[in-house]
Amino acid sequence: MSLPDELLALAVETAREAGRMLVDKRPAGGPDVVQTKSSPTDVVTQMDRAAEALIIERIRAARPDDAFLGEEGGTRAGGSGVRWVVDPIDGTVNYLYDLPDWAVSIAAEVDGTAVAGAVEMPRRGETYTAARGGGALLHAAGGTRELRVNARVPLASALVATGFGYAADRRATQAQVLTGVLPNVRDIRRGGTCCVDLCSVAAGRLDAYYERGVQAWDIAAGALIVQEAGGRVEGLHGAAPGSELTIAAGEGTFEALHDLLAPLDPLRD
Ligand code: IPD
Repeated sequence: MSLPDELLALAVETAREAGRMLVDKRPAGGPDVVQTKSSPTDVVTQMDRAAEALIIERIRAARPDDAFLGEEGGTRAGGSGVRWVVDPIDGTVNYLYDLPDWAVSIAAEVDGTAVAGAVEMPRRGETYTAARGGGALLHAAGGTRELRVNARVPLASALVATGFGYAADRRATQAQVLTGVLPNVRDIRRGGTCCVDLCSVAAGRLDAYYERGVQAWDIAAGALIVQEAGGRVEGLHGAAPGSELTIAAGEGTFEALHDLLAPLDPLRD
């Protein structure tokens, strides 16, 4: 088995175990908020922490020399050249409110490049996977299928997802940018979970996605899944995707959305 396939197998097994735990152990009255981060609505629950601890424990048991970057602080150095980028619950607010679209996102990088990614959506019964060079797959009750983005969708017909940060200033700017996007696309979706939006682009359930303010753990697995499904994931003017801006879409649609966003100055806050 190649290293990316080996890492992917571990990512999938671990994401599924964490996903099951998050469903089975979700307190009946909802999880407790144990911390807030960038704003009072940017929350961490005890379940985010428990899931990250489980993921790190499982991966360390299998690969003790690997490094980690975890949303909830599980960051540590390693000596193997492999780093795991982990969001134990992407879409924590959906999880808090018992909305179904949240996910466990685990990516493995080798020397800084993502080579394997798994996004587990327990409430949908779906697992999205990609190993670099091996395509992207959706595994669900009905079977496994290869993913392909929608390409060359004219912007006026494109269903575009976006998301909003937690800080008020950032949200005010994002609302202004949205007024420039909304009249030019089919419609907008705000699902609440970055990696779910990316997987939906990969699956052709959305034509495009853009957001400012997402972190490495939100996009690491999902971006690889979009790329392996034939799509582009970048920032403005060829920049790497990341917290400044992440745009994901198929060829043709990507360029059109990029050129619509650039003059709207989405980085100005
Ligand atoms: C958030 C979600 C959301 C996006 C936010 C992210 P979290 O991640 O991905 O869709 O709009 O920017 O911070 O905080 O739930 O892990």
